[in-house]
Amino acid sequence: MLFASGNGTNAENIIKYFKEKKDVIIQEIFTNNPNAGVIQRAKNLNVPVSTFNKESFYNKDEVLTRLKQIDPDLIVLAGFLWKVPVKIIESFNNRIVNIHPALLPNYGGKGMYGMHVHKAVINSGDRKSGISIHWVNEEYDKGDIIAQFTCPVSENDTPESLAQKVHQLEYTHFPLVIERVLHGKYKV
Ligand code: GAR
Repeated sequence: MLFASGNGTNAENIIKYFKEKKDVIIQEIFTNNPNAGVIQRAKNLNVPVSTFNKESFYNKDEVLTRLKQIDPDLIVLAGFLWKVPVKIIESFNNRIVNIHPALLPNYGGKGMYGMHVHKAVINSGDRKSGISIHWVNEEYDKGDIIAQFTCPVSENDTPESLAQKVHQLEYTHFPLVIERVLHGKYKV
């Protein structure tokens, strides 16, 4: 089960990775954004997509009800930008993972997503960035870290070039970490 809000290149990469494997099925993609690139990507790969709005996510429990029907082993946030409601977190305790495009605990929290993160890293002058894959709890980007991978930041890097480096790390490592989590190789 994947959640995504935007372009969906991570979602596509994860779907392609697990299409080759027989023991993991990506049941459905959920998105809050009816214009998200992830919708076409999922359709191209024959994965069902559901869109939802704030009302159905936060007030009407429609997403929660659907998740309970599916009862996935793992919910993966792959570029998902809304805060997950506490009811969903409580119902799927230690079954939700997120990817963040920097080395948490730095550059996390509300408003820190996508290019905002890479701009902040470049402006700080840090010579290292990377990705953090972590469990999701009630606070943005504060759940326990499962795995981190780093890349160098050079003086010539721009937010755009750093975003590319970080995306490459995501494509290489995120599916493998998901697989290891599903096989119980990372302790909760
Ligand atoms: C990814 O870099 C992901 O780490 C980031 O959004 C991008 C989505 O790209 N997630 C966050 O910033 C969450 N706070 P994609 O839609 O092409 O996969």
